[in-house]
Amino acid sequence: EHDIAKKLPLRGKKILITAGPTYEALDPVRFIGNHSSGKMGYAIADEAANMGATVVLVSGPSHVALQNPFVEKISVTSAKEMYHAVHQHFEDCDVAVLSAAVADYRPTMVASEKIKKKEGELTLQLEKTEDILASIGAIKHKQFLVGFALETQNELENAKNKLQKKNLDLIVLNSLKDKGAGFKGDTNKVTFIGKDNKVVPFEVKPKTEVAKDILQYITQHLHV
Ligand code: CTP
Ligand code: CA
Repeated sequence: EHDIAKKLPLRGKKILITAGPTYEALDPVRFIGNHSSGKMGYAIADEAANMGATVVLVSGPSHVALQNPFVEKISVTSAKEMYHAVHQHFEDCDVAVLSAAVADYRPTMVASEKIKKKEGELTLQLEKTEDILASIGAIKHKQFLVGFALETQNELENAKNKLQKKNLDLIVLNSLKDKGAGFKGDTNKVTFIGKDNKVVPFEVKPKTEVAKDILQYITQHLHV
């Protein structure tokens, strides 16, 4: 019992994770998306399952392969689909880590036929998508909630604002300025900011190692 508890510190816990980009359709053949690979979220899902958790991964379009066969993966395309999948699984989970690069805006209208090229310019009208993280932050009770922040200026201040506004327990700030950090690569440079406003910077390291740091922080703070 003692050994297993040490090796599988998340046994009996259910973790919900979002990963990857969302695609917001313009017409049957086009979308607005972003360059998120999904690697960070998939690494967290794999590692959480390795630590004994029951893992539900809600993923936007991604080519990343899961390593752990026990992760339950739900594939979605748009922010709206991701919102619904997350709300279906949030209530009975203990931890939620929302690492997806959700589109902030979607086309107001989706054309039913392929948009044809015409003379002159084309203007797109966009509307806001659901803020999935803020929406579960507003209804959480027991859940430990982790969000990410991608900033290019006033990093710490903006990240702290997101932590508060979205009612998070931990925010993981992605430092895009540093070499070896970002969306597509295999490494990340992150800074943790906890609910106590304590700031913990990390070195550039593989996303698999960042995943371990995040899950270690979660296990250490889950019962306090
Ligand atoms: N997020 C989300 N749903 C959205 C937008 C963001 O769940 N519609 C989550 C992301 O998964 C991430 C966190 O919110 O965990 C912060 O995302 P980020 O893009 O950094 O912040 P935004 O709140 O979208 O603000 P902005 O892009 O203007 O900085
Ligand atoms: Ca955003």
